[in-house]
Amino acid sequence: MLNIVVCVSGGGTNLQAIIDGVKNGAIRNTKIVGVISNNAGAYALNRAKENEIPGFCISPKNYENRAAFNEAFLDKLAELNPDLIVLAGFLVILPEQMIATYRDRIINIHPSLIPSFCGTGYYGLKVHEEALKRGVKVTGATVHYVDEGTDTGRIIAQKAVEVLDGDTPEVLQRRVMEQAEWIILPKAIDEIAMREE
Ligand code: GRF
Repeated sequence: MLNIVVCVSGGGTNLQAIIDGVKNGAIRNTKIVGVISNNAGAYALNRAKENEIPGFCISPKNYENRAAFNEAFLDKLAELNPDLIVLAGFLVILPEQMIATYRDRIINIHPSLIPSFCGTGYYGLKVHEEALKRGVKVTGATVHYVDEGTDTGRIIAQKAVEVLDGDTPEVLQRRVMEQAEWIILPKAIDEIAMREE
Protein backbone atom coordinates (compact mmCIF):
# COMPACT_ATOMS: atom_id res chain seq x y z
CA MET A 1 0.00 0.00 0.00
CA LEU A 2 1.34 3.45 -0.97
CA ASN A 3 0.59 5.85 1.88
CA ILE A 4 0.44 9.40 0.58
CA VAL A 5 0.21 12.86 2.15
CA VAL A 6 -1.21 15.63 -0.05
CA CYS A 7 -0.04 19.20 0.64
CA VAL A 8 -2.45 21.95 -0.44
CA SER A 9 -3.05 25.70 -0.18
CA GLY A 10 -6.24 26.38 -2.11
CA GLY A 11 -9.39 24.93 -3.63
CA GLY A 12 -8.12 21.35 -3.72
CA THR A 13 -9.45 20.29 -7.13
CA ASN A 14 -6.30 18.20 -7.67
CA LEU A 15 -6.79 16.68 -4.20
CA GLN A 16 -10.38 15.89 -5.23
CA ALA A 17 -9.13 14.17 -8.38
CA ILE A 18 -6.86 12.02 -6.21
CA ILE A 19 -9.66 11.24 -3.73
CA ASP A 20 -11.98 10.28 -6.61
CA GLY A 21 -9.24 8.21 -8.26
CA VAL A 22 -8.66 6.18 -5.09
CA LYS A 23 -12.43 5.67 -4.70
CA ASN A 24 -13.11 4.62 -8.30
CA GLY A 25 -10.03 2.43 -8.63
CA ALA A 26 -8.14 4.59 -11.13
CA ILE A 27 -5.50 4.95 -8.43
CA ARG A 28 -4.65 1.47 -7.10
CA ASN A 29 -2.83 0.34 -3.98
CA THR A 30 -2.94 3.83 -2.45
CA LYS A 31 -4.21 5.40 0.80
CA ILE A 32 -4.34 9.14 1.52
CA VAL A 33 -3.16 9.20 5.16
CA GLY A 34 -3.33 12.97 5.54
CA VAL A 35 -3.81 16.38 3.97
CA ILE A 36 -1.68 19.31 5.15
CA SER A 37 -2.49 22.93 4.31
CA ASN A 38 -0.66 26.15 5.21
CA ASN A 39 -4.00 27.96 4.80
CA ALA A 40 -6.76 27.39 7.34
CA GLY A 41 -9.34 28.64 4.86
CA ALA A 42 -8.32 26.28 2.06
CA TYR A 43 -11.39 24.52 0.68
CA ALA A 44 -9.10 21.53 0.19
CA LEU A 45 -9.38 20.93 3.96
CA ASN A 46 -13.18 20.73 3.60
CA ARG A 47 -12.70 18.10 0.88
CA ALA A 48 -10.49 16.09 3.23
CA LYS A 49 -13.05 16.32 6.05
CA GLU A 50 -15.94 15.34 3.74
CA ASN A 51 -13.96 12.23 2.82
CA GLU A 52 -12.88 11.40 6.39
CA ILE A 53 -9.22 12.05 5.61
CA PRO A 54 -7.19 13.59 8.48
CA GLY A 55 -6.56 17.25 7.66
CA PHE A 56 -4.02 19.54 9.30
CA CYS A 57 -3.36 23.26 9.06
CA ILE A 58 0.29 24.06 9.64
CA SER A 59 0.88 27.68 8.74
CA PRO A 60 4.06 29.72 8.98
CA LYS A 61 1.82 32.46 10.41
CA ASN A 62 1.30 30.35 13.54
CA TYR A 63 5.00 30.05 14.36
CA GLU A 64 7.42 32.62 15.69
CA ASN A 65 9.92 31.93 12.93
CA ARG A 66 10.57 29.81 9.87
CA ALA A 67 12.64 27.26 11.75
CA ALA A 68 9.76 26.59 14.13
CA PHE A 69 7.36 26.14 11.21
CA ASN A 70 9.79 23.81 9.43
CA GLU A 71 10.13 21.71 12.57
CA ALA A 72 6.36 21.44 13.04
CA PHE A 73 5.86 20.58 9.36
CA LEU A 74 8.58 17.90 9.44
CA ASP A 75 7.23 16.48 12.72
CA LYS A 76 3.75 16.09 11.22
CA LEU A 77 5.16 14.39 8.15
CA ALA A 78 7.19 12.02 10.35
CA GLU A 79 4.02 11.23 12.31
CA LEU A 80 2.06 10.47 9.12
CA ASN A 81 5.05 8.58 7.69
CA PRO A 82 4.12 8.81 3.98
CA ASP A 83 5.73 6.78 1.22
CA LEU A 84 4.98 9.66 -1.15
CA ILE A 85 4.25 13.38 -0.65
CA VAL A 86 2.10 15.04 -3.32
CA LEU A 87 2.24 18.84 -3.67
CA ALA A 88 -1.06 19.96 -5.19
CA GLY A 89 -1.01 23.72 -5.32
CA PHE A 90 1.14 24.00 -2.19
CA LEU A 91 2.47 27.54 -2.04
CA VAL A 92 5.11 27.08 0.65
CA ILE A 93 8.90 26.91 0.24
CA LEU A 94 9.80 23.40 1.39
CA PRO A 95 12.38 22.98 4.17
CA GLU A 96 15.67 21.74 2.66
CA GLN A 97 15.64 18.99 5.30
CA MET A 98 12.34 17.73 3.83
CA ILE A 99 13.81 17.42 0.32
CA ALA A 100 16.72 15.42 1.74
CA THR A 101 14.55 13.21 3.98
CA TYR A 102 12.03 12.42 1.24
CA ARG A 103 14.45 12.40 -1.71
CA ASP A 104 12.64 11.22 -4.88
CA ARG A 105 9.43 10.78 -2.84
CA ILE A 106 7.92 14.24 -3.37
CA ILE A 107 6.01 15.04 -6.57
CA ASN A 108 4.42 18.29 -7.77
CA ILE A 109 1.83 19.27 -10.37
CA HIS A 110 2.70 22.40 -12.34
CA PRO A 111 0.21 24.04 -14.75
CA SER A 112 2.52 24.37 -17.77
CA LEU A 113 4.74 22.25 -20.00
CA ILE A 114 8.02 22.62 -18.08
CA PRO A 115 10.52 24.17 -18.93
CA SER A 116 8.09 26.81 -20.20
CA PHE A 117 6.45 29.22 -17.75
CA CYS A 118 7.93 27.80 -14.56
CA GLY A 119 10.36 28.73 -11.82
CA THR A 120 10.23 31.43 -9.18
CA GLY A 121 7.03 33.47 -9.30
CA TYR A 122 5.26 31.17 -11.77
CA TYR A 123 2.24 29.79 -9.93
CA GLY A 124 -1.54 29.96 -10.20
CA LEU A 125 -3.00 32.36 -12.77
CA LYS A 126 0.37 33.98 -13.47
CA VAL A 127 1.42 30.87 -15.41
CA HIS A 128 -1.57 31.18 -17.74
CA GLU A 129 -1.27 34.96 -18.05
CA GLU A 130 2.32 34.53 -19.27
CA ALA A 131 1.35 31.75 -21.70
CA LEU A 132 -1.34 33.98 -23.21
CA LYS A 133 1.02 36.97 -23.29
CA ARG A 134 3.61 34.89 -25.18
CA GLY A 135 0.95 33.68 -27.58
CA VAL A 136 1.67 29.95 -27.32
CA LYS A 137 -0.82 27.73 -29.14
CA VAL A 138 -0.27 24.77 -26.84
CA THR A 139 0.25 24.66 -23.10
CA GLY A 140 -0.51 21.93 -20.56
CA ALA A 141 0.60 20.48 -17.23
CA THR A 142 3.61 18.63 -15.83
CA VAL A 143 4.07 16.21 -12.94
CA HIS A 144 7.67 16.18 -11.72
CA TYR A 145 9.80 15.09 -8.79
CA VAL A 146 10.72 17.87 -6.37
CA ASP A 147 14.37 18.70 -5.75
CA GLU A 148 16.10 21.73 -4.24
CA GLY A 149 15.19 23.91 -7.22
CA THR A 150 11.85 25.42 -8.26
CA ASP A 151 10.09 23.18 -10.81
CA THR A 152 13.49 21.65 -11.73
CA GLY A 153 13.07 18.03 -10.68
CA ARG A 154 12.89 15.04 -13.07
CA ILE A 155 9.74 15.14 -15.21
CA ILE A 156 7.35 12.21 -14.70
CA ALA A 157 4.45 13.07 -17.01
CA GLN A 158 3.13 15.87 -19.21
CA LYS A 159 -0.11 16.46 -21.12
CA ALA A 160 -0.69 19.13 -23.77
CA VAL A 161 -3.75 21.38 -23.90
CA GLU A 162 -4.79 23.65 -26.79
CA VAL A 163 -4.93 27.41 -26.25
CA LEU A 164 -8.04 28.83 -27.95
CA ASP A 165 -8.69 32.28 -29.40
CA GLY A 166 -10.27 34.52 -26.79
CA ASP A 167 -9.02 32.48 -23.84
CA THR A 168 -8.76 34.40 -20.59
CA PRO A 169 -6.29 33.23 -17.93
CA GLU A 170 -9.20 31.85 -15.89
CA VAL A 171 -10.70 29.92 -18.83
CA LEU A 172 -7.30 28.52 -19.79
CA GLN A 173 -6.52 27.56 -16.18
CA ARG A 174 -9.75 25.59 -15.95
CA ARG A 175 -9.11 23.80 -19.26
CA VAL A 176 -5.57 22.86 -18.17
CA MET A 177 -6.97 21.50 -14.90
CA GLU A 178 -9.79 19.52 -16.55
CA GLN A 179 -7.85 18.21 -19.56
CA ALA A 180 -4.42 17.71 -18.00
CA GLU A 181 -3.85 18.14 -14.25
CA TRP A 182 -6.73 16.02 -13.03
CA ILE A 183 -5.64 13.24 -15.44
CA ILE A 184 -1.84 13.08 -15.20
CA LEU A 185 -1.51 13.55 -11.42
CA PRO A 186 -3.75 10.59 -10.47
CA LYS A 187 -2.11 8.51 -13.21
CA ALA A 188 1.38 9.31 -11.91
CA ILE A 189 0.38 8.31 -8.37
CA ASP A 190 -1.14 5.05 -9.63
CA GLU A 191 2.06 4.21 -11.55
CA ILE A 192 4.23 4.89 -8.49
CA ALA A 193 1.85 2.86 -6.31
CA MET A 194 2.00 -0.09 -8.67
CA ARG A 195 5.79 0.02 -8.71
CA GLU A 196 5.64 -0.32 -4.92
CA GLU A 197 3.42 -3.41 -5.29
C1 GRF B 1 -3.34 24.07 -9.84
O1 GRF B 1 -3.52 24.90 -10.97
C2 GRF B 1 -1.96 23.46 -9.88
O2 GRF B 1 -1.47 23.25 -11.18
C3 GRF B 1 -1.14 24.51 -9.23
O3 GRF B 1 -1.95 25.07 -8.22
C4 GRF B 1 -3.31 24.88 -8.56
C5 GRF B 1 -3.96 24.13 -7.43
O4 GRF B 1 -5.31 24.08 -7.65
N1 GRF B 1 0.05 23.92 -8.67
P1 GRF B 1 -6.19 23.15 -6.67
O5 GRF B 1 -5.97 23.65 -5.24
O6 GRF B 1 -5.71 21.73 -6.84
O7 GRF B 1 -7.59 23.35 -7.16
